[in-house]
Amino acid sequence: MRRLKLAVLVSGRGSNLEAILEGCASGEVPAEVAVVISDNPGAAALDKAGTHGIKRVIIKRASFQDRDSFEAALAEACQEGGAELVCLAGFMRLLGPAFLGRFPGRVINIHPSLLPSFPGLHAQRQALEYGVRVAGCTVHFVTEEMDAGPIIAQRAVEVLADDTEESLSQRILAQEHRLYKETIALLATAQVTVAGRRVTTS
Ligand code: GRF
Repeated sequence: MRRLKLAVLVSGRGSNLEAILEGCASGEVPAEVAVVISDNPGAAALDKAGTHGIKRVIIKRASFQDRDSFEAALAEACQEGGAELVCLAGFMRLLGPAFLGRFPGRVINIHPSLLPSFPGLHAQRQALEYGVRVAGCTVHFVTEEMDAGPIIAQRAVEVLADDTEESLSQRILAQEHRLYKETIALLATAQVTVAGRRVTTS
């Protein structure tokens, strides 16, 4: 079976990256990670990529004069790896047209809330503080606006009476790992149509 080539962009821990790598290795996800790119040289995600023998590239924002040239370097690293789909997995920067224009409709992100509720940082804390009874995670196409692109898949997680930010985050994270693998597998195998904000697959 043909395997979709992925670039995964990270900044930190890398647990979603690891889930993707394991899904690719087990055959659950018909894809392969061609390159892992980090803007943070200290990201634990880089060690995880190394363990799996995946090409790693570090591209620091501070090495570039402006955002466009930084994004152009990110896009080149993805293209050199032959990436057909770019997966953001804890990548802590907003991307603009210099990157997104090079991969139209081919950049996805995972966020730990049921969007459009609680975009941005500390989504799990926002959910707890708001008092919602159901939290969750979302995989969406990336647009210039933060956590606002068309939604591809979501999974709900019940909020328990004694949840802390940490306990809720852990249960959401377990679902993130499953949802991200399933969604990449879907995008690798299905025809995807985006009409306005609505995403359908066939
Ligand atoms: C995840 O919660 C993801 O939803 C968010 O950032 C976190 C990254 O965690 N965008 P990890 O680096 O994949 O462990």
